[in-house]
Amino acid sequence: MLKEIEKRVSVRDFKDQAIEKMKLDEIVRAGRFAPSGKNAQLNHFIVIQDEMLIETLNDLAKKALKREDHSFFYNAKTVIIVANSKHNRLAVQDASCALMVMMIEATSQGLGSCWINQVSALNDEVPLKKKLLLNDDEVMIGALIVGYEKEPKKRVSLVGNHVTYL
Ligand SMILES: Cc1cc2nc3c(=O)[nH]c(=O)nc-3n(C[C@H](O)[C@H](O)[C@H](O)COP(=O)(O)O)c2cc1C
Repeated sequence: MLKEIEKRVSVRDFKDQAIEKMKLDEIVRAGRFAPSGKNAQLNHFIVIQDEMLIETLNDLAKKALKREDHSFFYNAKTVIIVANSKHNRLAVQDASCALMVMMIEATSQGLGSCWINQVSALNDEVPLKKKLLLNDDEVMIGALIVGYEKEPKKRVSLVGNHVTYL
């Protein structure tokens, strides 16, 4: 497992190749098995492979963040949004656990992935939330883009994340 954790890098350039349904299902399944505070299990995974919908997400993110020149979802063909209840005090932590385990599962499936934060800026977009079949009390916490990486990427050097053993 440590091998997969050390191998994982954020991938932002993908091949055109679609990912296999079985791999995608296993990544989402990994996310569903992530722990949650008080075992709330309130994560909601929205799996998007509709190119037009990804384009809509990108357009709204560009507008919300005033960065018309940026492609927030890069060229990914699969986006997994993790939403959670706005009434859950631990929504961010619960969604983060799911996003993390999905990244590791993606790595172990030979796929690249990257956490995309900007969906959290789109929670006031009511028509979008309807389109994503989110409930009124659900908020998007983060998203994962997944696909086959174009070029193998070297991991960033580990300089922080200090440890104190007592
Ligand atoms: C909470 C969180 C939010 C992130 N948001 C984005 C994002 O919106 N867009 C992006 O390209 N990368 C995003 N990243 C990826 C980080 O930039 C990346 O993890 C970091 O640079 C370290 O590189 P590595 O993942 O290759 O180890 C995010 C990562 C985390 C943990």
